[in-house]
Amino acid sequence: MKKSKEKVGRNDPCPCGSGLKYKRCCLRKRKSDPDDLREQYWKRYKIRLKGPEDIAAIERAGRLVIETLDQVAQVIRPGMETEEINTLVHEFTLQHGARPAPLHYRGFPKSVCVSVNEVICHGIPGKRVLHDGDIVNIDVTSILDGYYADANKTYFVGTPGEDARKIVRVARECLFRGIAKVAPGNTLGDIGWAIQEYAEGEGCSVVREFVGHGVGFDFHEAPQIPHYGRPGEGVALVPGMVFTIEPMINLGGRELRVLSDQWTAVTRDGSLSAQFEQTVLVTEEGVRSLTPYGPDSDSTP
Ligand code: MF3
Ligand code: CO
Ligand code: CO
Repeated sequence: MKKSKEKVGRNDPCPCGSGLKYKRCCLRKRKSDPDDLREQYWKRYKIRLKGPEDIAAIERAGRLVIETLDQVAQVIRPGMETEEINTLVHEFTLQHGARPAPLHYRGFPKSVCVSVNEVICHGIPGKRVLHDGDIVNIDVTSILDGYYADANKTYFVGTPGEDARKIVRVARECLFRGIAKVAPGNTLGDIGWAIQEYAEGEGCSVVREFVGHGVGFDFHEAPQIPHYGRPGEGVALVPGMVFTIEPMINLGGRELRVLSDQWTAVTRDGSLSAQFEQTVLVTEEGVRSLTPYGPDSDSTP
């Protein structure tokens, strides 16, 4: 016997009386309800969607991250030690009422990652001296009012050679091609594929061991954002997702090695590696960067 209180099946007529199947009618509307989506993305993927106030706060943190990068850009010059960049980032961050997220994060000893030439990421600032023709990535993550924003750029030190120009151009283009794929309905695989296809088409390689990540409430949240993949695969993007895209692109092979300091990741073949990163928000319309900079902003000599 069928009880009157029994749950409506997906294929039953919709209780609203539309004549459509439940799954084609109100079940869909229920799923597109913001609270429902929030719950689904949490349960299925451990992804924490952000609301308007969260987004505003991450954006404030993001503005500070970009201001910090702009400060660093002004002091980069041949002959300086990378330690000097750490001091600047650390003090600038505190002066603006924020904290540098890298400091003591899983034992990281400094306030910013500074990655020179063959260093892919997680370079520890210190005695290394910048030379004319080097490339240097500065990766800043700030915590402001409890919210995280994360961005990086690769800069030229003095006058770049041909290889330096190429890898920086390709890595920057990879970031913007990835961002261009961010819109509701697209998937993480669409982002990864756009990046991989372009990088490999230019004869470069995509690092696999490090990926982008959800961000905002914490430094590294779900999901992981690979910079490689296949179109249509992976989690579908929905409004309220906030994550980084941060392709690490090598001029040679994609293989890496981590130095004995347990942090510094370098290309196995010693080739140049460059990276650009932004924190982006999926909106109803598409995408909005919370750490915005354009494709033409600095490191273009
Ligand atoms: N900012 C890096 C990222 O983009 C993470 C650095 S972790 C640290 O995810 F400990 F090295 F700071
Ligand atoms: Co990041
Ligand atoms: Co970063």
